[in-house]
Amino acid sequence: EYPKFVKVVEVGPRDGLQNEKEIVPTGVKIQLIDMLSGTGLSVIEATSFVSSKWVPQMADHTDVLRGIQRAPHVQYPVLTPNMQGFQDAVAAGATEVAVFGSASETFSKKNINCSIDESMLRFEDVINTAKERQIPVRGYVSCALGCPHEGYIEPSKVAEVAKKLYEMGCYEISLGDTIGVGTPGSMFKMLQTVMKEVPADALAVHCHDTYGQALPNILTALQKQYAEDPWPYTMGVCVVDSAVAGLGGCPYAPGSSGNVSTEDVLYMLHGMGIETGANLAKVIEAGDFICNALCRKTNSKVARARGRH
Ligand code: HMG
Ligand code: MG
Repeated sequence: EYPKFVKVVEVGPRDGLQNEKEIVPTGVKIQLIDMLSGTGLSVIEATSFVSSKWVPQMADHTDVLRGIQRAPHVQYPVLTPNMQGFQDAVAAGATEVAVFGSASETFSKKNINCSIDESMLRFEDVINTAKERQIPVRGYVSCALGCPHEGYIEPSKVAEVAKKLYEMGCYEISLGDTIGVGTPGSMFKMLQTVMKEVPADALAVHCHDTYGQALPNILTALQKQYAEDPWPYTMGVCVVDSAVAGLGGCPYAPGSSGNVSTEDVLYMLHGMGIETGANLAKVIEAGDFICNALCRKTNSKVARARGRH
């Protein structure tokens, strides 16, 4: 059994474009987001308020956020690693933010230049201030299925970080397979452990497709009831992160490739009779646009297959 409706969180403009070698013009980013706004997707992660020394690709965050045409009923969260990012984001008009922690100490240090414990203190400040302003905060846990530096990550560590973020007030915790090494086996074990601490309806999965395991991993997370042994357990996650055209990767995760493509996720979900509210053909158009602008081929198999007809 699967959820009837799955919320697809489009992260391409952020997770995708943060990793491009050439700086993508602000106007292109804005047009991509505006096209995505017309697809029926209800969440589009727009940019991140991080240091431009660390991630030059996101230096135009304020212009992007101010330049987009916001569609009603669409949320445009932005990443905010600390109070400075949060304040800049709010000044630019952000109405939803996301903090991003890690289940790997080494990755935390390399990505946001602090330990996991320090990051939780920073996030607590962000979350408390956001609460006062009634700004919802999403939380990420990176390296949930493996770390580029430490390798195997204990599911209990993922659960610990997810629980902290949830208890501090994140409304949704996105579990990131940052380098795409997970399999349905490791996804299942990790979720089983995390779900002891955070309810399924507050979880999302964020899969990169480096090893080509993203769709089966997502399917594993969605499945509500495993009939019998060996896996007599309910997952039932109903939020999936993906990126149009399978853009992306994390600049601080060597070897990580793009997120699972939104087109491929929608094709699978719609084929299973699961509603998303999104129009696949329009998402493919947005994917065509950004691939043309970046002079590259799409990473979406569905978009490629449709392009032949
Ligand atoms: P830091 O150098 O430790 O910061 O960086 P600091 O507090 O020591 O300040 C140093 C300088 O940075 C100061 O400027 C601050 O003003 C400035 P200076 O006085 O030298 O001129 N600064 C900032 N500037 C702009 N925006 C800010 C900000 N904060 C301080 N928010 C910091 C710490 C977190 C800023 C840095 O490490 C950083 O920007 N990291 C971003 C890394 C990143 O964006 N990674 C990619 C996103 S995570 C991801 O992709 C994974 C995910 O997709 C999930 C998954 O796949 O698993 C989410
Ligand atoms: Mg990511």
